[in-house]
Amino acid sequence: MNWDTVFAERTSEMKRSTVREILKLTAKPEVISFAGGLPAPELFPIERIREATDTILSERGAEVLQYSTTEGMPELRQLIAKRLSKGKFNISPENILITSGSQQGVDLIARILLDERDRVIVENPTYVGMLSSWKPYHLHFSPVPTDNNGMDVQAIEPLLKDKHKLIYSIPTFQNPQGTTLTLERRQKLAQVLVDNDLLYVEDDPYGELRYSGDPVPTVLQTEAELRNATDVTGNVIYCGTYSKVLTPGLRIGWIAAAFPIIDKLVQAKQATDLHTSTLNQFISYEVARDEEFLTSHIEQLRNVYRQRRDLMLETMTANFPQEVTWTKPEGGLFLMVTMPAKLNAAEILVKALEQNVAFVPCDAFFIGDMGHNTFRLNFSNARPEMIVEGIKRLGAVLKVAMKE
Ligand SMILES: Cc1ncc(COP(=O)(O)O)c(C=O)c1O
Repeated sequence: MNWDTVFAERTSEMKRSTVREILKLTAKPEVISFAGGLPAPELFPIERIREATDTILSERGAEVLQYSTTEGMPELRQLIAKRLSKGKFNISPENILITSGSQQGVDLIARILLDERDRVIVENPTYVGMLSSWKPYHLHFSPVPTDNNGMDVQAIEPLLKDKHKLIYSIPTFQNPQGTTLTLERRQKLAQVLVDNDLLYVEDDPYGELRYSGDPVPTVLQTEAELRNATDVTGNVIYCGTYSKVLTPGLRIGWIAAAFPIIDKLVQAKQATDLHTSTLNQFISYEVARDEEFLTSHIEQLRNVYRQRRDLMLETMTANFPQEVTWTKPEGGLFLMVTMPAKLNAAEILVKALEQNVAFVPCDAFFIGDMGHNTFRLNFSNARPEMIVEGIKRLGAVLKVAMKE
């Protein structure tokens, strides 16, 4: 068989994720990895999950091992709707679809909304997992620059002279930069959406992980408030997940959106995987319904990740060359480093791996041929002593590279 000729044309845009390929290199125990978006494994609520699994198997065994509805477990949809509701802004379970991680949510959204060659506005850089999912549709991505306050919303209006299908961004603790869209920009963005009747995908896996600064409302809520709506009837499609606050292994995410969007997503999901794992939905529900536990667990994550973020930033200040800059996130799992333009992050990675340190070069997160001098560091996964050692080694690699 000539394998070059068998694959569908759309697969020409499919590539293995650079992040996942780098993760393979970091599997060796001696490598200090700042590469993946991995939560700290020592904080996984393993006992809770074991107890929850025992309970549901003994109490509802036949039900949890059976096929279930595409929309998802009703009690879980209700729980998620309640947690997302704030004050007068009230989300109904009808507006929630349970997905297999938020990655599936992002993928299903493209299936129901995007035609080949559609124009889509994204912040630059953006989440590489969205690009992998959406690129096979041969879209035109219109990049919007970003700064420490998130996407430059002013730069959206001029793009709208061409018809765009939607905007996608990660407004809170962005991947890869860790930056957050300010309240003022959220309000401007909501205005742009309403004025132009434009759809917006809010990808929000990190929103609960804030370590400093003032909380900001979701764009979902901001847009509803602008229209004086108290329910989910507008242009925002919100993707959430338990991956970063419970465990990514259960693969439980959700979409909150207006009912016509949920209805069409259900049809697409039926064709994809019928429904998200019944067992994993029940386990997640059993663990997350204990609000006191969930709140204290998230508080513990915040405390540990805050310390790790601070330690990484301090160690970078003490060890990185002056010409190198980086973002200072108020939450999430990542920060992004920018080196002088003459340095290439992929080349630096080779040298860093020789010292058993790993990170992710960010060029694949950018639209256009740029970002070669940037890389992403994760601060949630490595233990404090590893953060100090890894950042020192990386600082030494950068100093040598600066001199060459
Ligand atoms: C911006 C963004 N969206 C979606 C995901 C996918 O998360 P999951 O499918 O585990 O919910 C990630 C994971 O790192 C992410 O960073």
